Amino acid sequence: MSLSDPTLTAIPVDAGQGGLPATRAVVDLAAVARNLGRLRARLAPTTRVVGVVKAGGYGHGLVAVARRLEAAGVDGLGVAVVEEAAALRGAGVTTPILVLSPGYEAAAAVVVELALEVVVSDLAELDPLEAAARRAGRPVGIHLKVDTGMGRLGLDAPHLETALARLHHAPYLRLAGVMSHLACADEEGAFTGEQIDAFATLRPRLAAAGFGAIPLHLANTAGVVHFPAAHFDMVRPGLGLYGYGAVDLEPVLTLETRVVRVRHLAAGATVGYGRTFRCGRPTRMGVVRIGYGDGLPRALSNRGCLLVAGRRCPIIGRVNMDLTCIDLTDAPAAAVGSVAVVIGRQGGERITADEVAAQTGTIAYEVLCSIGPRVARVYGGGE
Ligand SMILES: Cc1ncc(COP(=O)(O)O)c(C=O)c1O
Repeated sequence: MSLSDPTLTAIPVDAGQGGLPATRAVVDLAAVARNLGRLRARLAPTTRVVGVVKAGGYGHGLVAVARRLEAAGVDGLGVAVVEEAAALRGAGVTTPILVLSPGYEAAAAVVVELALEVVVSDLAELDPLEAAARRAGRPVGIHLKVDTGMGRLGLDAPHLETALARLHHAPYLRLAGVMSHLACADEEGAFTGEQIDAFATLRPRLAAAGFGAIPLHLANTAGVVHFPAAHFDMVRPGLGLYGYGAVDLEPVLTLETRVVRVRHLAAGATVGYGRTFRCGRPTRMGVVRIGYGDGLPRALSNRGCLLVAGRRCPIIGRVNMDLTCIDLTDAPAAAVGSVAVVIGRQGGERITADEVAAQTGTIAYEVLCSIGPRVARVYGGGE
């Protein structure tokens, strides 16, 4: 285990937990590499993989995950914004980086300087990129995004030829890929099939325009897992790297805290803000040091469970900013200092980000990305 995230330097370490901070996200980087291998096993050997590490590696830690993927031989890294890419380059990551989201025009010079590739979803984005590349005297790699049905970003498919004609006369704009994004590959097949078919028609059009060797990429994790026809030349999995989206993938992150107080409440006593929980029996109540300020969803108030002493212990009352109350009555072995697992395994029990998401009306992505900066990331399984 190492506390290698620089944001940790300001976080005091609690005694009595093997030197670990009380509230921590334990990230098994070896599991990231194994998940990459399991995703690769679904692909043709020549299909390239861009590992998506945006939003702080989906809450797991941007730099640590990217470094581990780089060591595992990933072909590229996907980030949302230039700032994330700059953090990776600053940490010594040399793997190609693709900036997925628009809004980078003001940072075009940085894009060129750091040799980033960017997704172009509107031709107006080409001008500042081209100007910065010409000033620097070296071309910038761009991936043209075509909208095949996501309805969010991308050129309308009929405009592809216009874009390609523009690139023919632009020595400082290097076409590095043509891409699209799937809208619902994790939910249904018919529309995804339409998107795949629409995307496949781009290949002959690229060839006709003299860009036949340009890699095509469409698939996110669900595309990789459920739609082999969506693999094309390159894929862009994010969620799957972190262990969600297919049963053979292993969750990488354990979110845990500890019990900091144990109290006995009489039947009829109420717990916490708004008095939303009333003890129906004499209750052994534990206070754990995690709250919505750490990313524990407030919507788990009076709903969710934490694992303590191998038991599922219900959250009672409201999740607070820093503290949460749980019912330890049926976990007699629990005591001050006991580890309380929010996401992860303990004994024979397991809570996944999917379970938390189902209880709070969201998706595992949001549960993972919401784990706050105050939670120390503790890394194991690095290179
Ligand atoms: C353009 C793009 N590609 C790939 C991904 C990765 O998706 P997933 O995490 O579902 O694999 C994302 C994430 O939202 C994305 O925006």
